[in-house]
Amino acid sequence: MPSDSRFAGSIPELYDTVLVPMMFLDYAEDVAAEVAASTPHDVLETAAGTGAVTRALHRLLPSAMITATDLSPAMLARAADVLPASDHVRWTPADAQELPFDDAGFDAVMCQFGAMFFPDRRGAYAEARRVMRPGGRLVLATWGRIEVNEATLAVEDALTTLSLDDPPPFLRRVPFGYTDAAVIRAELDDAGFIDVDIRSIEHRSRPTSARDIAIAHCQGTPLANALAERHLDAVQITSEVTRLLEERWGEEPFTGRLSANLVSATRVTD
Ligand SMILES: C[S@@+](CC[C@H](N)C(=O)[O-])C[C@H]1O[C@@H](n2cnc3c(N)ncnc32)[C@H](O)[C@@H]1O
Repeated sequence: MPSDSRFAGSIPELYDTVLVPMMFLDYAEDVAAEVAASTPHDVLETAAGTGAVTRALHRLLPSAMITATDLSPAMLARAADVLPASDHVRWTPADAQELPFDDAGFDAVMCQFGAMFFPDRRGAYAEARRVMRPGGRLVLATWGRIEVNEATLAVEDALTTLSLDDPPPFLRRVPFGYTDAAVIRAELDDAGFIDVDIRSIEHRSRPTSARDIAIAHCQGTPLANALAERHLDAVQITSEVTRLLEERWGEEPFTGRLSANLVSATRVTD
C-alpha cells in the first residue's frame, strides 16, 4: 500500500480524536443529508475511516442498511467502538478500487474525503457504478484548494518555513490535490454517471489550539509516514509547527475557513 494512503500505527487515533472534530463533522452532516434525500435502503460507504459519515447517516436514516468499508482495519475498528455493528450497520475492510460485493446491490454509494487517496480513481468510480442499482446515487466530498483551507495552509506554510531538506508535499499533493471540478466531472462521466452536480461548500474549522492543529496534520494523517520516510521526528516537527502557528495566530484556539466540493451523480440506467 502506498504510504500516502496508509492510515495505520498511531495515525487512526490522532485522526479520529483531533482531525475529525476539527474539520470533518460539518461535512459529514452535508454528505449524509445529500444521501438521505433519496431515501436509499442499502447504502455502501467507501473509505469510511472512523465513521463520521456513517454515524451521521445512521442518525438520519436509522432503518437503512449501511455497509461501511475502508482499506484500513484500524480505522474501522475505531469506528466500530463508537457505533457497533448491528442489523443496520456493518463494517467491512475493502479497497474501493476492488469491491467485494455483487453487482447492483446498493441504492447509494458515499465517500467523504477518500477519493483523493485512490491511486486508480476511475477504477474506484467504475466499481461504485458496478455495485449500484440503476438510478442509484453517488455522493462524494473532496477538499477544495489548500489556499482556501486556512488551517491546513498554515501548516503547509510552517513546514516550508522550517526549510527541511526534502519537505513532504503530501498535504498539497494528496488530500488537497483533487480539487478541479472539471476533472471530477470528467472522471464520473467516464465511469457512467450522469447528472453530475458539484457544489462548493464552506464551513469554519472548530476552534482548535495551534498544538492540536499541528498534531492533527503532522501525526494524524499520512504526512506522518512521509516524515518517517525522511527520518524526520514527527514529534519534533509538530513542536516547531506549533511554535510557528502560535507566532502567526497567538495562543487562542484558531478557527478558519474550510472549503470542499460536495459532489452527487446518478448511475445511468442500462
Ligand atoms: C481522510 S480519511 C476519510 C475517512 C472518512 N471518510 C472521514 O470522513 O472521516 C481517508 C480514508 O481513506 C481510506 N483509504 C485510502 N485508500 C483507500 C482505498 N484504496 N480504498 C478504501 N479506503 C481507502 C483510508 O484508510 C482513510 O480511512
